[in-house]
Amino acid sequence: MNTRCRVKTLSVMAALFIVMFVSRAAGVPAGEPLLPNLESAGQREARLAWWREARFGLFIHWGPASVNGTEISWSRRGHPHDHPGLESVPAEVYDALYQRFNPVKFDADAWMQLARDAGMKYVVFITKHHDGFSMWPTKLRPEYSIAATPFQRDICREMADAAHKHGLKLGWYYSTRDWTHPDYLAGDNRKYDAFYRAQVCELLSNYGRVDMLWFDHVAGNWRDYDFQDLFNSLYRLQPGILVNDRAARFIRETQDKPAPDLASLVRGDFDTPEQRIGKFQNDRPWESCVTMTECKDGGGWSYRPDGRTRTFEECLRMLASCASGDGNLLLNVGPTPSGEILAEQAAVLRKLGAWLAQYGESIYGTRGGPFRNGEWGGATYKDKAIYLHVFRWNGDHLKLPPLKARLLKATALTGGDVTAEQGRKALQLRLAPAQQDQIDTVIKLELDAPAADEFRNGQPLAVAE
Ligand code: GLC
Repeated sequence: MNTRCRVKTLSVMAALFIVMFVSRAAGVPAGEPLLPNLESAGQREARLAWWREARFGLFIHWGPASVNGTEISWSRRGHPHDHPGLESVPAEVYDALYQRFNPVKFDADAWMQLARDAGMKYVVFITKHHDGFSMWPTKLRPEYSIAATPFQRDICREMADAAHKHGLKLGWYYSTRDWTHPDYLAGDNRKYDAFYRAQVCELLSNYGRVDMLWFDHVAGNWRDYDFQDLFNSLYRLQPGILVNDRAARFIRETQDKPAPDLASLVRGDFDTPEQRIGKFQNDRPWESCVTMTECKDGGGWSYRPDGRTRTFEECLRMLASCASGDGNLLLNVGPTPSGEILAEQAAVLRKLGAWLAQYGESIYGTRGGPFRNGEWGGATYKDKAIYLHVFRWNGDHLKLPPLKARLLKATALTGGDVTAEQGRKALQLRLAPAQQDQIDTVIKLELDAPAADEFRNGQPLAVAE
């Protein structure tokens, strides 16, 4: 064995030893996946690193409901949650839509190229919504899946391949709640529980790397589900996968309660404020999911020709507000029945991408703070730099709370000559109104010490509005 080889062998052995030691330290028996409720804070952060860096992803709600142009699942009359105004399609009509689902213009490659052009770093795709229809040829219920449509192609396969090809992280949305499966919540729910866990395993076994599992609500009691087995499978099949907080959301706790370990496991990695921007929160990750289509009834997830496309201004401010609150934005599109993303939505996405190509350093890889965000805008930071995203000035100035560090330089990245006056009581910024950006003026403040040190007792600094 030559020296090079020996060094290599030794380092492999050392690595193996470290892995064994770390798993042992975390109490994980050999051969079992490391579950997040047993991992250290450092291990958790390492798993979340790409997602924090990414900040911006694409959500896609699509399926046979698009044929009708009515809200996915919710427009099926007779579902157990009454949303007056949303129920428009008799169940037997809704349940036959798949026979007409033939999206001949579907081009996963073009969609993923668009996501990249938008500056997005990941995509979350609906594999099965509450209506129970599977977008892949599942062996478990093929009769109500893409295999039973005139289209037949495995949409999940094409999505996964295209996401991988374009270097986007891939997330599967999967609704545990199922309004058409005959076994859902029937009796002790054993049959359905086994069915959906097997479906999730299909999705995590057959499509290469999957980076996120985005569950969406369930009903019933804790005893109706084997969540421990579900989570064991998730991490066995896709070590390092991120999971949202909805795997057991809306489960009744009246009759039985989960063991504390299980409760923390099913809380997953991040919170999911829906159709709103999350509040500032930097002690637990979060991701706002928001539709690009705005509908009066609060829907707009799937293709809704009656809705309005949110403007570039609105979307950009949502992104900046998420980042400055220390969260991500998962922006949703609902493609047409023929398989296209609406041209006006694609145009807004491309504009966002062009903006990010210029000012992305103020979003990607940053954390929210140290100023608390609000109507005025917000701040992100990275190392010794703070990026202000100013939506509203007070005439030509903006008054912020004082910084502990010395300000070395202030630059208006969006243009103009900004001046900064650092006092003991305040940090005063001035920028002529003509030089302020109408949507988001981005100002970079360079400090002589880490921006993270500016938080007081872990809290962001309040800005008087
Ligand atoms: C809600 C809705 C659903 C949508 C989801 C996205 O739970 O039921 O239509 O898919 O939110 O967050």
